Amino acid sequence: MCGIVGYIGSESAAEVLVDGLKTLEYRGYDSAGVAVIGAQGLDRRRAEGKLKNLSKRLRAEPLSGSLGIGHTRWATHGRPNETNAHPHRSGSVAVVHNGIIENYAELRTELQAGGAVFHSETDTEVVAHLVASLRDQGMDLKTAVESAIKRLEGAYAIAVVDEDFPDEFIAARLASPLILALGEGENLVASDLPAVLPYTRDVVFLEEGDLAHIRRDGVTIYHQGEVVERQSKHIKWSPAAAQKGGYKHFMLKEIFEQPRAISDTLSGRLGQNGEVHLEHFDFGRVEGVEHISLVACGTSWHAALVGRDLIENIAGIPVSVEYAHEYRYRRHLMGAGDLVLGISQSGETADTLAALGEVKSQGVRVGCITNVLESAVARLCSDSLGVIYTHAGPEIGVASTKAFTTQMVSLHLLALGLARQLGRISAERSKAEIEDLRHLPHWMEQTLEASKDIAELAPFASEFDNYLFLGRGTLFPVALEGALKLKEISYLHAEGYASGEMKHGPIALITEQFPTVALVGDDALKAKAVSNIEEIKARGGPVILVASEGSEELARVADKVVLVPKVPERLQPVIYSLPMQLLAYHVADHLGTDVDQPRNLAKSVTVE
Ligand code: F6R
Repeated sequence: MCGIVGYIGSESAAEVLVDGLKTLEYRGYDSAGVAVIGAQGLDRRRAEGKLKNLSKRLRAEPLSGSLGIGHTRWATHGRPNETNAHPHRSGSVAVVHNGIIENYAELRTELQAGGAVFHSETDTEVVAHLVASLRDQGMDLKTAVESAIKRLEGAYAIAVVDEDFPDEFIAARLASPLILALGEGENLVASDLPAVLPYTRDVVFLEEGDLAHIRRDGVTIYHQGEVVERQSKHIKWSPAAAQKGGYKHFMLKEIFEQPRAISDTLSGRLGQNGEVHLEHFDFGRVEGVEHISLVACGTSWHAALVGRDLIENIAGIPVSVEYAHEYRYRRHLMGAGDLVLGISQSGETADTLAALGEVKSQGVRVGCITNVLESAVARLCSDSLGVIYTHAGPEIGVASTKAFTTQMVSLHLLALGLARQLGRISAERSKAEIEDLRHLPHWMEQTLEASKDIAELAPFASEFDNYLFLGRGTLFPVALEGALKLKEISYLHAEGYASGEMKHGPIALITEQFPTVALVGDDALKAKAVSNIEEIKARGGPVILVASEGSEELARVADKVVLVPKVPERLQPVIYSLPMQLLAYHVADHLGTDVDQPRNLAKSVTVE
């Protein structure tokens, strides 16, 4: 939540910052702002709402200079207005911040007693006043920031400029992500890779507690006051990965990218003899496993439900699926045979991180599935079981799509790898599973051909205010995900239920105005799922049916039918997810909502 960028070089800082913020807007869009140091000294522009408001402001009142910092906000402390927008300023100092300063109230009182005048309701403003007060005591900028961060409790990624230091800026991080990007005669920092890729692909993932002193011709990284060397990494993604590429929305682009994303998830991981190789995950450490807990939130939690069935069925290990925010506060009754795996697209969800951190501190083996390289969750697990990267590429649309399907496929790989490691699957069986997985991108391509038909269905589907999504077995989590997608981007009310639960209450809701999206798989539960739909139809409820080819006769129980390719049962959740995403997308687009940046949401939830 919140994105920050800092730039020093020879280009117009305001332009570089706004371009960078565009790619970080998924992290929050309540307000945006930049501060630039030019010939006139330090100046800033801020605007409430989306980045386009700031861009408009900058067109009317441009800022010149080649050093600056920028911010896009998801409001935590203080309303989303211009006064609370970053950068926050105190005298010659300006600060942008992602995270939460937990002891801000105490610092604010102390600074006010020293004469500081606060303008905003934010926690961040204390950082600006703190640095400025230390500067007033004669410290240079780097020393002042170094001293200031010693006083901060909580989480921060900050970038700080001072007009008395027009050729440098300082950045530091603790528990919030920050990337240092190394260019030619220019250097940047940002909360995420897409903001820096147009300038350089050589980056340093700053470590917890690092502070970077950034100049045009170089950077120095400090850790606890000592200069440290950090290995830079060359990133292979092209900047185009974070652009819309001709699609109307990032979400639609990301839906259509899924066959490619799944190929990347599988790439280099499948052996000729049914073996699975997950490069950063240590199967050697799973010996003695008796139980696995999968811990996640939101869409990632839905992937975990699918993963439970895969691991239980393929590897024969009992699995529990836990909401991270509930799990972290429960008593954990664990033994030596327990493994805990976090699933998080962003790798920064506060609850998932805290849950894993908590059990790790009790000596439990932890691992994770994440999309973001070197993210906090990846680092937390790297000295334990390790990390499985989904390789979905940057997901910019706030509603998760390719992250979900690549998580499910990563869990499938994990299940196969565990089964092989523990000798619970034959090479023959494993080879057959792998063959199916190799074919999956092709089946996904075929499924996506339904997009046009689903778009045509959108005007009908948009007429209702409430929806039920029903599925059984492995399609139950997909029903939950379908309902979540619809509500988050179209703002229609939708609930996912296990079909068998209908008679236990929800059926009371069914009227001609209360439609059901019913998922019917080609599996042992098909007949039961169809009976559940008949019961809805008998009560006049409209039905949108998603079923596999060969089930054409089911049109009799539905108002609209979407057919998907018939695939092996274990792959159904991935295939059925695609029409769920497309339905939500086309309904939201038809209703004219802000598909990529739905109200009140941010992509990474770094607060509890
Ligand atoms: C929904 C969505 C969220 C996230 C959830 C967890 O489309 O994106 O429900 O899945 O906030 O986020 P991660 O996976 O980053 O931990």
